[in-house]
Amino acid sequence: MSSKTISGFSKKSKSEKIDWLVAQYLGNAPEAKDLLTTYWHPDHDRQQKHDEFIENTLSNFYMPYAVAPNFMINGAVLALPMVIEESSVVAAASYAAKFWMQRGGFSAAVISTTKSGQIHLIYSGAAKDLMAYFERIRPALIDSIEPLSKSMKARGGGLKDLVFESRTKDLDHYYLIEATFDTKDAMGANFINSCLEQMAATFTAGTQGAAEFLEAQVVPEVVMSILSNYVPECLVRAQVSCPVTALAQEGLTGQEFAEKFVQAIRIAETEPRRAVTHNKGIMNGVDALVLATGNDFRAVEAGVHAYAAHRGHYQSLSHASIQDGQFTFWLELPLALGTVGGLTKLHPLVQVSMALLGHPDAPQLMRIVAVAGLAQNFAAIRSLVTTGIQKGHMKMHLLNLLNQAEATDSEKESATAHFKDHEISNRTVVDYIDSLRK
Ligand code: MEV
Repeated sequence: MSSKTISGFSKKSKSEKIDWLVAQYLGNAPEAKDLLTTYWHPDHDRQQKHDEFIENTLSNFYMPYAVAPNFMINGAVLALPMVIEESSVVAAASYAAKFWMQRGGFSAAVISTTKSGQIHLIYSGAAKDLMAYFERIRPALIDSIEPLSKSMKARGGGLKDLVFESRTKDLDHYYLIEATFDTKDAMGANFINSCLEQMAATFTAGTQGAAEFLEAQVVPEVVMSILSNYVPECLVRAQVSCPVTALAQEGLTGQEFAEKFVQAIRIAETEPRRAVTHNKGIMNGVDALVLATGNDFRAVEAGVHAYAAHRGHYQSLSHASIQDGQFTFWLELPLALGTVGGLTKLHPLVQVSMALLGHPDAPQLMRIVAVAGLAQNFAAIRSLVTTGIQKGHMKMHLLNLLNQAEATDSEKESATAHFKDHEISNRTVVDYIDSLRK
């Protein structure tokens, strides 16, 4: 067996894990161990908390934690915490926040908060027998999750409905039980999955000797039970609006700018290749906040992109119009977010984020995150239809390029002044630093 394979790795201590990896994969370089350990938090208890989020933790992987101030959302002003590595995202968010602060701010409203999960079944007997069994066992399924639902119910949430669906048109013998939930301020994945697994167990136990299946001598089989990250019924809308005349900029009249902007949106509504990048820009804002608040960005990403295709082809999540001299720009996003449970109480910086945001409940957080997405999208489209994206992006990327060139503080100072009115690229920055060193 290769020395690069190992069993019992997870049982080793953190230092043993690092030693083994450094020996087997990193050429025994002592710097590798040093680097991993320098990223440990000096406070042992705090580090241990982070270690215990997942298995086989070696170190911490830093990402910048930033803030974009001046977001006026439904009349209140917030500074939005953002965790992201891309240079220009926070600057773009801050720009959009200030721009819209001067034009009435953002408005946002939650449309719905329902999430769902499915128990997926295979049954080769007659559909009517399975349906009859479901109808009979349905109250028992609901009763069986009573103990799990107590505290969720006390908070006004819990199971909302349980329905049976035949999907045999798409896949032989395939049926499902669709369960819908309101999970209040929890993202609810654990709650939903526990309820589904309990109901699946109750369902399966009931099939033994059930009258409905005696004749066919075949019982339904639960294939799996899991929540869906597709949450089109957990929807939030964010919007900005102002007179077209208030949009004049970069040598364009308000009307010219608004028309170009709306055209860019129409293109993203029509052309999937553009729509994906357009929506990626929205997710720059969404993910940064989702991460800063300790939420599950993979769930959000999966759900949002599925929703972007809900009209039959992948399209822009945002829309814009000009009507009676008024420019309106809005988006609707499916967002399953939590402000309790998960990492919210465990990660100290998530607690800072929540405090910055005034300890929002889940619907409040949905509104804030949707606004971050809209702001980011506004800033991107604005740049794209005026100066182009690279000017602002490269300006923000300059420090990364200087760091790559190992510029000193004084070289950075000269370069920052020089590149105020010179084109920024990897080549021009390297050449400039070389010229300083000659
Ligand atoms: C870059 O991270 C995001 C953009 O490409 C988004 C867009 O094109 O709309 C600028």
